[in-house]
Amino acid sequence: MPTPIEQRYIDAHPKCADLYATSKDLFPNGVTHDARNLKPFPYFVSHGLGARKWDVDGQEIIDYKGGHGALILGHSHPEIVAAVSDQMTRGTHYAASTELEIKWGSLVRELIPCSEKVRFHSSGTEATLMALRMARSYTGKSRIIKFDDHFHGWHDYLLAENTGDGGVPEEVKGTVTSLPVNNISLVEEALKADDVAAVIIEPTGAHMGLWPVRPSFLSELRELTERLGVVLIFDEVVTGFRTSKGGAQGYYGVTPDLCTLAKILGGGLPGGAVTGKAEIIDMIQLRDDPSFNANTRVGHNGTFNANPLSAAAGAKALELLSTQPINDRATAAANHLKAGLNDVLSKLEIPGCAAGVGSAIFLRLGVDHECDQEVCLMSDEDQHKVEDRTVRHQLELAMYSNGADGGQRFIVSSVHTDRDIDETVEAAERSLTAVRAQGLV
Ligand SMILES: Cc1ncc(COP(=O)(O)O)c(C=O)c1O
Repeated sequence: MPTPIEQRYIDAHPKCADLYATSKDLFPNGVTHDARNLKPFPYFVSHGLGARKWDVDGQEIIDYKGGHGALILGHSHPEIVAAVSDQMTRGTHYAASTELEIKWGSLVRELIPCSEKVRFHSSGTEATLMALRMARSYTGKSRIIKFDDHFHGWHDYLLAENTGDGGVPEEVKGTVTSLPVNNISLVEEALKADDVAAVIIEPTGAHMGLWPVRPSFLSELRELTERLGVVLIFDEVVTGFRTSKGGAQGYYGVTPDLCTLAKILGGGLPGGAVTGKAEIIDMIQLRDDPSFNANTRVGHNGTFNANPLSAAAGAKALELLSTQPINDRATAAANHLKAGLNDVLSKLEIPGCAAGVGSAIFLRLGVDHECDQEVCLMSDEDQHKVEDRTVRHQLELAMYSNGADGGQRFIVSSVHTDRDIDETVEAAERSLTAVRAQGLV
């Protein structure tokens, strides 16, 4: 029996339901990305423009998924459309080097503090896979330290907890140690083993920052890894060009040895990169040394590395980020949203907070606590309380029916206007009221 919130969604989306009837036999769960799973059925989008998108049932939605974080410029930004359309007419693949990739790579180096050299890939998953391999080859060590629930893509080495590790060999799992974040003594203890190649972290916290990292933990990690000769990798696939132009490392002033990038990097098209210290990135470079080339060098092909369409979109996006206050606009819109959501919680007397760094905002319900609205640290017990899946699911469906695609997480772009934010805050008030009517908050 559907809840009232589910029934409203079902009634308004007959065409989505029809498409799901086909897609569920074609794709597992009827979707092509785990995060797009939705009960009773996912929504199917026909087009997007600016901060909005439209589903096949004609519903207009203020978008806070932002292409899983890729779209800091919103949908179909005119300058990205022009750059990609122009490139399309010149060819999409030359199996050769291009001036465009030099422009793209130079902008990465200009913006990201740790960047001395760059290697492009096609996704964030590929980038973290490569960063580990570079670190292992550079140090001659094999163990990796990661942090609980931090997500680095879907390859075998770094699966986050509870994301499905079926098919991963036990031997591979044995090369990675996962620790609770924000406790430097535990990391120090783990690094005593002397077989650790690298420590990798999502610098604002797990789930894009939902479970925050204390900023001082980043500097403690930097000091410790530097002292012990362990490669420090910031996975900036989400935070790169978002938390600030220079990512989380630019925002907090802590420079890792390597950093992985994707999402915003590709300007809305597929792209990924590892960047950082030249001597580590150069583990890919062929030397005049056959033994090094055969046994130590990191080989790297990849048909779509720095492909011209992604390079055109990515270089244009980074050019805009470097010359215009894109981050400041996105952060200002996010701060407006944060304040509005916190006002709604106070008005409805619902315990919780809206907090987050830069333009990624999290609505955490069910816990009454002091919140600094940015890096809002909670006890583990409280963090698990705010993860209640039923509340999250009903809130997201209610928000969608009320015209905004966000609920627990809001990824804000530079093109969200005051009107978008005000409408979202109204949608949140209506949605939280509906969730409360079901006895959930
Ligand atoms: C922090 C982080 N690293 C890596 C990835 C994997 O990136 P991709 O989905 O491009 O493979 C993601 C994806 O959401 C991510 O959030």
